[in-house]
Amino acid sequence: MSVLAFASHAPRAAESPGGDDGSIALGPSNAFVTSPTVREITDRALAYLEAGYAVHFSGPAGTGKTTLAFHVAAQLGRPAILLHGDHEFGSSDLIGRESGYRKSRVVDNYISSVVKLEEEGRALWIDNRITTACRLGHSIIYDEFNRSKPEANNPFLSILSEGVLNVPALHGRGEGYVNVHPQFRAIFTSNPAEYAGVYATQDALLDRMVTLRFGHYDRAAEIAITVSKSGLDRDRAARVVDLVRLCRSEGRDPNYPTLRASIAIARVLAARGGEASFRNPVFLWACRDILSPAAPNGKSEGAASSAFVDLLLRRFESAAVNDEAATRSDRRRDLQAPQLEGGT
Ligand SMILES: Nc1ncnc2c1ncn2[C@@H]1O[C@H](COP(=O)(O)OP(=O)(O)O)[C@@H](O)[C@H]1O
Ligand SMILES: [Mg+2]
Repeated sequence: MSVLAFASHAPRAAESPGGDDGSIALGPSNAFVTSPTVREITDRALAYLEAGYAVHFSGPAGTGKTTLAFHVAAQLGRPAILLHGDHEFGSSDLIGRESGYRKSRVVDNYISSVVKLEEEGRALWIDNRITTACRLGHSIIYDEFNRSKPEANNPFLSILSEGVLNVPALHGRGEGYVNVHPQFRAIFTSNPAEYAGVYATQDALLDRMVTLRFGHYDRAAEIAITVSKSGLDRDRAARVVDLVRLCRSEGRDPNYPTLRASIAIARVLAARGGEASFRNPVFLWACRDILSPAAPNGKSEGAASSAFVDLLLRRFESAAVNDEAATRSDRRRDLQAPQLEGGT
């Protein structure tokens, strides 16, 4: 996922003359699904942001963190700058860097026989995204920030606690401290499990933000999102979501497969048609391809993990048949009930 979920975002014109400031304007997206849980987390995040705190969405992959970060940033109504954590980042990639050298030359030749040459060099400074956001009061969405090395994220320590960005390389020019614009806000996301052991997230940084923990959405929200992102009808989307949730509870990892698997299977089904049943070959191979990495033995390729998916499909199918039978008999009972009452 990413920016594309917000179809209405558009590159924003530079706020200051001299070029694009790299920000995007976020607007509402028709594909965004709200549910009571989504509304609640959005409200909580906005309350912390309005009170001046940075927020941090932490949780497993596919739980809607990035999507919600965009949604919340859109509510702030400010241009947003997007950063994606990267282990190659150094802090100069985030706060700025020297971009060359400006030379001015003074030629002093009052006296035609004497030419005095004076050269002055001045490094040109390129504001990078954090510096730009701090100066102009943009919102920063820093997705998967714990993929970056902790030292690259150090500039955020003083931004978030003192409201000042320290740019050591500019100290010589008297511009070394940038006061953070009062409307600057930051939304971080991270997946602690995925990057455990890569870079431990800095405690000092976490201490300066409010962390909201994400889990998988409830069934109703997962169905609504799957419908919205695939165009599949609700009944078939519900079957896909139920199968993926079953796979999550029976497979190798309770957080895997994610909502992305439901969306992927649903999209294939929407494109190719047919029932969400193993009797439909399209559904069968899509489930095998997309879900088999979730098998307890899913990391080793091969027939065993497909067999796990087949087993789930059969169990799922017979449960659905039983459900249908139960619903039919419920309906029969409902139809009979008034007659019975009337008869007594
Ligand atoms: N509220 C929502 N409305 C619509 N689509 C959503 C919503 N939340 C998540 N999604 C979709 O679910 C998938 C996973 O969401 P994403 O935000 O990328 O998760 P994460 O960042 O936690 O890995 C994406 O395809 C995304 O578009
Ligand atoms: Mg994400």
